[in-house]
Amino acid sequence: MILRTQRKLGRLLLIICIVVVLYTAYKAWFGATNDRDAEESETLKVARSQVLSSKFDVSTLQDFYSRQPRQKERKKLIETFCRQSGNTAKPNPLHITVNQTLKIIYCITPKCASRELRIMLFPFVNGRNVPRVRQFPPHEQNMMLESYFKFTFVREPFERILSAYKDKFVYLRNNQRKQKQYPAMDFHWDNYVNICGMCAMNYDFIGHYETMEQDLADFITAAGLSAEDARRFADYKHTQSKTSSSLLKYYSQIPLEWIDILGQIYKANFEMFGYNFPGPLKSLYEK
Ligand SMILES: *[C@@H]1O[C@H](CO)[C@@H](O)[C@H](O)[C@H]1NC(C)=O
Repeated sequence: MILRTQRKLGRLLLIICIVVVLYTAYKAWFGATNDRDAEESETLKVARSQVLSSKFDVSTLQDFYSRQPRQKERKKLIETFCRQSGNTAKPNPLHITVNQTLKIIYCITPKCASRELRIMLFPFVNGRNVPRVRQFPPHEQNMMLESYFKFTFVREPFERILSAYKDKFVYLRNNQRKQKQYPAMDFHWDNYVNICGMCAMNYDFIGHYETMEQDLADFITAAGLSAEDARRFADYKHTQSKTSSSLLKYYSQIPLEWIDILGQIYKANFEMFGYNFPGPLKSLYEK
């Protein structure tokens, strides 16, 4: 009798144990998923509130556009190009840098004072290590791309090609001289369309290298920089580049047909940024 009761009790305890284990496991499993859901929506909520709180002041920009038709024109040219070409190329993430304090995204375009601009935006960071948008978690990346002030600088295509050419073949930097081989075709030559994803990114401001000083002043206003932050940008003094004065000397050495071909290759950059073809090389065609 006692033995039977003990056995019954044993079975009961076992059942209770199993129920407790199952219940705990159930809680652990579903509780975790619920927590995960909660965490996810929390992340979304944070991202959304970040967009709202960090939204760079759009009214500043609208106000700026209305007073500064040049930027509006530049934006319109890009939009027209993108619509007509159907281009949707994403930017090369290596080139998309971000200063979180200023809430500014800058696409590095080589040969367009990119070194100077990097120093203005990231005064204490070594050039190679400037923060990129891609280093941040996805929801923060989206928030930045959506709400930060996005800008880049571009340059007349023939000048830019020559400047890259001089860098690569005429005045080699010491480190390049030491290397036996270095890629002659790299991003220095690439189209801005691909580097910066001009159509995918919806930039707020496009500066021109040729009018750098004026455009930097406009940039300060458009981005709503504080007087203190503005100082670094306002100090820039544009010196007439050696490239522009030697442009004809170099290009007169190549057949006009090649210049036509360059014009075709860089067609997108001419059209999108409102540079005329053959622009500064016009006199070569008049001979
Ligand atoms: C971003 O800009 C701020 C304000 O000018 C500056 O103090 C800060 O060092 C910059 N951030 C980086 C990562 O360089």
